[in-house]
Amino acid sequence: MRFSILMPSIASMVNRMRGGHDPSTGSGRAFSRAEQPTNDVIPSELQPARNLLIFFSQRTVVVFIVLICAYVFAAAQQPTLKQAYNGCFLVGAALNPSQFTGENARQAALIKAQFDTISPENVLKWERVHPQPDKYNFGPADQYVDFGQQNHMFIIGHTLIWHSQTPKWVFEDANGSPVSRKVLLKRMRDHIQTVVGRYKGRVNGWDVVNEVVADDGTLRQSPWMKIIGPDYIEKAFEYAHKADPKAQLYYNDYSLENEVKRKGALELVRKLKAKHVPITGVGLQDHVSLDWPTMQQINATIDDFDKLGMKVMITELDVDVLPWPTPQQTADVSLRVASNPQLNPYRDGLPDSAQQQLANRYADLFRTYASHCGLVTRVTFWGVNDGDSWKNGWPVPGRTNYPLLFDRNDQPKPAFNAVIEAAPKKP
Ligand code: G3I
Repeated sequence: MRFSILMPSIASMVNRMRGGHDPSTGSGRAFSRAEQPTNDVIPSELQPARNLLIFFSQRTVVVFIVLICAYVFAAAQQPTLKQAYNGCFLVGAALNPSQFTGENARQAALIKAQFDTISPENVLKWERVHPQPDKYNFGPADQYVDFGQQNHMFIIGHTLIWHSQTPKWVFEDANGSPVSRKVLLKRMRDHIQTVVGRYKGRVNGWDVVNEVVADDGTLRQSPWMKIIGPDYIEKAFEYAHKADPKAQLYYNDYSLENEVKRKGALELVRKLKAKHVPITGVGLQDHVSLDWPTMQQINATIDDFDKLGMKVMITELDVDVLPWPTPQQTADVSLRVASNPQLNPYRDGLPDSAQQQLANRYADLFRTYASHCGLVTRVTFWGVNDGDSWKNGWPVPGRTNYPLLFDRNDQPKPAFNAVIEAAPKKP
């Protein structure tokens, strides 16, 4: 209202300055270019405004408007992650309850726009979904699966058999002594049948066994291994396949780019294949840093598992930008290192140079993954924004890390643009 009242008087003032007809009063007359008034007849208080008007001549204004429109159009046209890699692989993120219950509406919207596959960061782990022998807690997991279905996403179940986040009772009898192989196999089968069976036809792929190879390439000496023996792995796949014959079934692990560990993992997959165990793919977690692993190691790892007929997925991607505190590259969750200020250099923000390094690293990673389009079927980030990431607390507690594509306010970082630009160009 106020604006429409103001408009005629502005138009009138402008016209008066240009010496033309005043539409609001009907006064004045149209001047020919030759007879346009000079500055002398314009009141001195309007002189600066007239200069401005000349500066923003009609043509300049048109160019300005066109540029704004082009910018807005280009921003609207920028593809999302899932659009940029459509036809190459799915792009996903690991989610927590606030994101799939709608509590964090901004992140829920971001997730729906950017990703076409999701993983549960914690809600489907044994300790969460099956905390006591006769108690299953399916509430959060149901909400996770519902969210994925409502948004037509490829839904991952993470994880059935792991040495971590599995309650002690699973491995012990009433006296706290280790249970027998037979008892543990029965507990494993019941758990897998119950969990996979509940989501049959809805969860598309399961991390059946997680981190079963140790850093030296041998089978990890977990309670599963010690009590049941090495065939616990094939049993887990068989039980999962029986519970949902159509679900994809994966072995998921970290640091498979390291040659020694990879050799052991390849050996494991070869043996499973030879025994016709229903394994469909291998998940490379890719908790990486700015300089490890090399692209050559990543290429070799993808190729090696592809040659065994495995689907290959990048399942837990993040890039650590902070100083690495131990000689060994690992993602073993049991690692703990004491905090000190040198290990936490970016408390107040990531400097531009490091931001750029992160963007370059992400561009290299995605170009490498995309060079295996179709063999790599999915790339999933372990979290949505930097504030969500487990990397703020591991292996040094209380640090400020920047490992993902979105900042703590869910804004895309330069690394996001780098990933979009690294996508294969569509014909
Ligand atoms: O939710 C509870 C909270 O109620 C409690 O007050 C708090 C106190 O410690 O703990 C909270 O749970 C934590 C949970 O993350 C949610 O934040 C657990 O202690 C903590 O152990 C758990 O860490 C998870 C870790 O796996 C556990 O092993 C990380 O979120 C999760 O990102 C991480 O994910 C693993 C993958 O599953 C397998 N590959 C490696 C990857 C990174 O470690």
